Amino acid sequence: MTRIGIVTSSTRPTRIGHHVAQWVATQAPDGVEVEPIDLRDLALPLLDEPEMPSSGHYAHEHTKRWAALVDGVDAVVFVMPEYNRGYNAALKNAIDYLYAEWQGKPVACVGYGWGGAQYARSALRQTLDRVGMVVVDGAALVFEETLSTQGAVTADDTLAADVAALYGALVAAAPTEPGTGSAG
Ligand SMILES: Cc1cc2nc3c(=O)[nH]c(=O)nc-3n(C[C@H](O)[C@H](O)[C@H](O)COP(=O)(O)O)c2cc1C
Repeated sequence: MTRIGIVTSSTRPTRIGHHVAQWVATQAPDGVEVEPIDLRDLALPLLDEPEMPSSGHYAHEHTKRWAALVDGVDAVVFVMPEYNRGYNAALKNAIDYLYAEWQGKPVACVGYGWGGAQYARSALRQTLDRVGMVVVDGAALVFEETLSTQGAVTADDTLAADVAALYGALVAAAPTEPGTGSAG
């Protein structure tokens, strides 16, 4: 069994991101155990750790809780919106909190927006490379094509195939010993 964390990145009170994340979770194939992770519930403050994340010394319980969630999964899917041609600040903040936990962790991005969050996905890719994640191809949902502005997903063949492929790629990239929480 491969444990995959599906991260809802939007924290807005009227967000639709949790609907997209739930849909992604329903697409998980046999052999994948989904762990829903909601950045709104996690409620990380703006980065308030005194030491560099790469030191691995975490002073705050919220950081330790977040680190344990990431360590507890074999791979991650970031489900994220596009805000002003970037990805949302809560996701950037959450990534910045950790360092070693990301190293070698397989990851895919599912972006949603008017253009399938193409700018957000491109910007996120640079951050994921920087923290040493193993990035596999993700998927995009486009408003008024595969996603309503209220969050209802109507998958076409391309979206369904992309999501199936991302699960396959994450499972292939994940550690062979289940539950180790780190690749390699
Ligand atoms: C601050 C802000 C900036 C936005 N900028 C973009 C954008 O650059 N491109 C885009 O496609 N949609 C943009 N949108 C629209 C979002 O795609 C849409 O509101 C979506 O529902 C946001 O995801 P969420 O509801 O899960 O937070 C923006 C929305 C907000 C709140």
